[in-house]
Amino acid sequence: MITGAIAVMTSGGDSPGMNAAARAVVRTAIAEGIKVFGIYNGYKGMLADEIVELNSRSVSDLIQRGGTFLGTARCKEFKTVEGRRQGLDNLQKHGIEGLVIIGGDGSLTGGSMLSKEGGIPIVGLPGTIDNDVWGTDYTIGCDTAANTAVDAINKLRDTASAHRRIMIVEVMGHTSGWLAMTSGIASGAEYIIVPEVKYDIDEICEEIVESYNKGRRYTIIVVAEGACSGVGLKNVVQEKTKIDTRVSILGHIQRGGSPSLEDRIKASMLGERAALAIISGVNDVVFGFDEGKVVSINLFDSVNNKKPLDPELVRLASVLV
Ligand code: F6P
Repeated sequence: MITGAIAVMTSGGDSPGMNAAARAVVRTAIAEGIKVFGIYNGYKGMLADEIVELNSRSVSDLIQRGGTFLGTARCKEFKTVEGRRQGLDNLQKHGIEGLVIIGGDGSLTGGSMLSKEGGIPIVGLPGTIDNDVWGTDYTIGCDTAANTAVDAINKLRDTASAHRRIMIVEVMGHTSGWLAMTSGIASGAEYIIVPEVKYDIDEICEEIVESYNKGRRYTIIVVAEGACSGVGLKNVVQEKTKIDTRVSILGHIQRGGSPSLEDRIKASMLGERAALAIISGVNDVVFGFDEGKVVSINLFDSVNNKKPLDPELVRLASVLV
């Protein structure tokens, strides 16, 4: 049971809804009479003692904003035992008794090391557009990112159709195909290439040529960055089909923007749950969603397992795409 103070931080790649989650952590802790500190700039800020007490007003005007007001970073020093010792010393200096970490699997792995080495209670929230954290159907930001990709693909289809081109759209996702699969299905892409599913580029190209011979005006191929490079794929497709082909790499645009309703609500639910849990003495868990309900997952299980791509999405794509 925590009676003094907790801290909240965001880490790794930012994702839309991180602000909503951090806001919920802060406001819940304050409502419970517990002090709450914000650690700025991820693990880098923890090591540099960028740790500031927050109040309810610190998190006003945030729920609608993308990015993270706490800042985030990727930190090499934290990967060393000495680095983590420095971080733990800084937490202790501020009387911080428990930490809520909002981030992807790398950031949650960092949290599991802090817990193991320093014994500090950790509660993780999955925050990444990749939706690749084991044990949860959902990660904060994945919905907004997928909607951003769908919006872009809709626009790319217009110009592809006008020119009778093939359009390759490379989407993020790190090693996961979730973002490509969902945005591809939702935008009616003709092909979706993800790391989890084998594909035959010769067969795809033959099919495309045949469809253009019958009058087709456009082809959208959504490719996950973890499957292959969009530029490389464009060169192969253009060469094999002899059809004018372009590539669009959506890149960091997928990470920004005002969070969707789903991301705001789910991030708020997760933030409240995380604060209540850590205050009541829960340790080493990640909160996520399973079939629409908040669930707790063991932190070590979550970081030591690789989340597979939902086979239901793969099946649906095999029927519809
Ligand atoms: O994990 C989120 C993510 O956006 C991945 O989809 C992508 O591979 C990576 O981060 C990009 O990282 P950075 O912003 O450091 O270039």
